[in-house]
Amino acid sequence: MNANIVCIPGDGIGPEIVAEAKKVLNKVAEKYGHEFVFEDVLMGGASIDAYGVPLTDETIAKAKAADAVLMGSIGGDAKTSPWYKLEPSKRPEAGLLGIRKALNLFANLRPAVLYEELAAACPLKTEISSKGFDMMIMRELTGGLYFGERKTYEENGETKAVDTLVYSESEIRRIAIKAFDIAMKRRKKVTSVDKANVLDSSRLWRKVTEEVAKDYPEVTLENMLVDNAAMQLVKDPAQFDVILTENMFGDILSDEASMVTGSIGMLASASLNDTKFGLYEPSGGSAPDIAGKGIANPIATILSAAMMLRFTFDLDKEAQDIEDAVKKVLADGFRTIDIMPQDEEGKAKVTQIETKEMGDKICERL
Ligand code: IPM
Ligand code: MG
Repeated sequence: MNANIVCIPGDGIGPEIVAEAKKVLNKVAEKYGHEFVFEDVLMGGASIDAYGVPLTDETIAKAKAADAVLMGSIGGDAKTSPWYKLEPSKRPEAGLLGIRKALNLFANLRPAVLYEELAAACPLKTEISSKGFDMMIMRELTGGLYFGERKTYEENGETKAVDTLVYSESEIRRIAIKAFDIAMKRRKKVTSVDKANVLDSSRLWRKVTEEVAKDYPEVTLENMLVDNAAMQLVKDPAQFDVILTENMFGDILSDEASMVTGSIGMLASASLNDTKFGLYEPSGGSAPDIAGKGIANPIATILSAAMMLRFTFDLDKEAQDIEDAVKKVLADGFRTIDIMPQDEEGKAKVTQIETKEMGDKICERL
């Protein structure tokens, strides 16, 4: 197949990790006789530097015209970068939120899997981690607090700030349907996370989710309050299959879930709309502290490229091939610094490698 992929390398470690994902996609193309044409565009800080804004109409148009988008990361060090002297709507993050909205990417899939080979990097007690876990966090991505009205204003001599959390039935229904569809291909359990003991938006979330569940008699639906979910993720992560939740809760819980896998550098993500189109990016950030050093873990981006092959191009075999190659590299004992074991005994069994070598070793195993 022929496909046009727009790449947004972005800021920080973004360009380094995207380069490795492209390398892997090219290797897959060579092996299976596909052709992937890549075009790089700017977004986030890189776009601010070039055009004065974090997201241009041209970038949106190019992304829309592409078959899929592969992204690295955006943003810089909030203390030192000049981007953070700009007002919030002109900062790098506004670019990311803008493109999610412009492309209607309402369904964010963040798989969190504990690899056997990385069990030593898991911060949980062995009796918990030894059970393993494999969950899919489905985060609603274009509604809620992120996109509600907000303002900062003066009243009675003090400053006040307000953010609003709005969800419509249709917004909840479309993400719930995606979550149940995905659960049907997995272990058939959906845990819908909300704060229905306090929030109206959560009560609506629960009502609509329960309605959708009626169309999926094979899937078990469980409702869980978000504070409890945060606790259960470290107490017994193996209980989760699909976690369905709103934008802000999903942002927080997906970082937590990533850390129990050992490193956020391992976590892929897909942001999908109603069509086959998607934007694929690692769940982690731009890590400005290690940018340019060549030591970032490219695996999350490479696994995001595998998600692209699966969800946008229906190339399941090729996607599986990449996932297997990643597992092989880990089994062969190669680690980037973020997934190095902490104790001397563990360190003696593995070899620390850099970003580019990780990409090469994955390609070799394809
Ligand atoms: C993420 C990030 C973004 C979010 C930031 C950079 C705006 O944390 O993709 O999880 O909150 O969605
Ligand atoms: Mg986040």
